[in-house]
Amino acid sequence: MNVQKPYLLTFDTIGAPDLGYIAVAGNSALPFQIKRTYWIYCTPETVARGHHAHHELQQVVIAVHGSIEFVLENVAGEKTIFHLEKPNVGLYIPEMHWRTINFSHDAVLLCLASTEYNEADYIRDFEVFQALANQ
Ligand code: TYD
Repeated sequence: MNVQKPYLLTFDTIGAPDLGYIAVAGNSALPFQIKRTYWIYCTPETVARGHHAHHELQQVVIAVHGSIEFVLENVAGEKTIFHLEKPNVGLYIPEMHWRTINFSHDAVLLCLASTEYNEADYIRDFEVFQALANQ
């Protein structure tokens, strides 16, 4: 199975310290065309979200406020950890990455997604993910 790698993207910003900033993430700045946008907020620090992978969905996730830790595991069993805390930095997550996500109490996670929501695209059982990875 071809293993795509997650990586960080830095978005263009407009502004200055005395004025504030705008960060821009148009389709030309992304590795896919955006089909859906959602955001996650008010996650208790005692809660870890995620615990799934996607067959096809690609995402760019941004901590637009607060800090967010992503623990990613690819189909080769390689783990990478990313700490997001800058509103102009996004993390590209390719398909077939198991993720566990921890949030600071004030974190807001913006997700730019390559497909519409489709529950059939989720792999929610880690053993199923590992079995698919070993194919
Ligand atoms: P999920 O992607 O499992 O969130 P997390 O991994 O952060 O815990 O989504 C949680 C629930 O919300 C799940 O029942 C599916 C639903 N959901 C939608 O209906 N539409 C969406 O666009 C998303 C992202 C989730």
